[in-house]
Amino acid sequence: MSGLFITLEGPEGAGKSTNRDYLAERLRERGVEVLLTREPGGTPLAERIRELLLAPSAEPMAVDTELLLVFAARAQHLAEVIRPALQRGIVVLCDRFTDATYAYQGGGRGVPEARIAELERFVQGSLRPDLILVFDLPVEVGLARAAARGRLDRFEQEGREFFDAVRQTYLRHAASSPDRYRIIDAAQPLEQVQQVLDELLPQLLERIGG
Ligand SMILES: Nc1ncnc2c1ncn2[C@@H]1O[C@H](COP(=O)(O)OP(=O)(O)OP(=O)(O)O)[C@@H](O)[C@H]1O
Ligand SMILES: [Mg+2]
Repeated sequence: MSGLFITLEGPEGAGKSTNRDYLAERLRERGVEVLLTREPGGTPLAERIRELLLAPSAEPMAVDTELLLVFAARAQHLAEVIRPALQRGIVVLCDRFTDATYAYQGGGRGVPEARIAELERFVQGSLRPDLILVFDLPVEVGLARAAARGRLDRFEQEGREFFDAVRQTYLRHAASSPDRYRIIDAAQPLEQVQQVLDELLPQLLERIGG
């Protein structure tokens, strides 16, 4: 057995957390050891950085501050949780990772891709997800799902243009490396989304030798 690093990406309300839990259950049924985590966050310190990132605040957060906080949380998460788990052969299912940085800080905030790539190399070295599941859906559907949940965080308060850029960035990255990405139509009923995950399961089991 060797570890596998799978990330779930997409906008607010796309179903990342719901489907992360679903996929974890399917894998565990087959006897696979799975670790569920999320970004920003995943360790107590990184979760404190998450709170800084998400809390609406009277002081505007500079774009570079946001970018560095995201990667600071990621460095902690990698050191404390992700790398040790992968070294032990565990399947890591992570709700958002660096593709979200490209989408939100890159597409949404306008940080140049090259700068994100530089921090990605610095913080991750050569570590990249083995598989990236992109839950794609029309912007207004995701925003409606997020709004139905109540108070909006600092990102959810952004406008339509921001989320259009987020979506386009995810799709562009997925198109550039079709072997590592899987775009899932997240506007379908949940049962159909989960059917896609069921169909993916044999490939995953094969890759971890289970
Ligand atoms: N395919 C779907 N059809 C309809 N509703 C869905 C679907 N997938 C998820 N939902 C519902 O939408 C809401 C948001 O789902 P979920 O929390 O999994 O999204 P998320 O991508 O993790 O969002 P966030 O980025 O805000 O954490 C939940 O109430 C969930 O039950
Ligand atoms: Mg979620």
